[in-house]
Amino acid sequence: MQKTLVLIKPDAFGKNHAGDILKIYEDAGFKIIAAKVMKMTPELAAKHYVEHIGRPYYPALVEFMTAAPIMAVVLAGEDVIKKVRELNGATNPAEAAEGTVRKLYAQDKTKNAVHASDSETSAAREIPIFFGACEIFD
Ligand code: CDP
Ligand code: MG
Repeated sequence: MQKTLVLIKPDAFGKNHAGDILKIYEDAGFKIIAAKVMKMTPELAAKHYVEHIGRPYYPALVEFMTAAPIMAVVLAGEDVIKKVRELNGATNPAEAAEGTVRKLYAQDKTKNAVHASDSETSAAREIPIFFGACEIFD
């Protein structure tokens, strides 16, 4: 079964929307096979967002992601990578479709409620940053 990494970012987690967001994924048929509340350190942020280092928004992104708890989740299901990105909506919530997680719960281009892996390669790279093998039920 295909797997994807989701991060419920500090904005959405802090506003108690973790349950609302997980319900959207569960209602779409996806299984939660790993989950934890945690602090993203600058070191972890640099690993996870390695391809964004040096972009103008990177310092603000790290500041945002490390300031308050996040929830890391692994979801499993058929075509879960593409479908969860569709459920999440566009990176900029102003451009996100009605009913998507980002339309419902995000504030702006940085504080945009959720992360989800964008390919099988990304998922395979990102999941072990957050979870050890014995923390994933697959
Ligand atoms: O998260 P997604 O894959 O949709 O977008 P991305 O282009 O891979 O960017 C990763 C994250 O960096 C976004 O989710 C935003 O939190 C942040 N970002 C930002 O703050 N400003 C931008 N102009 C682009 C991205
Ligand atoms: Mg991305």
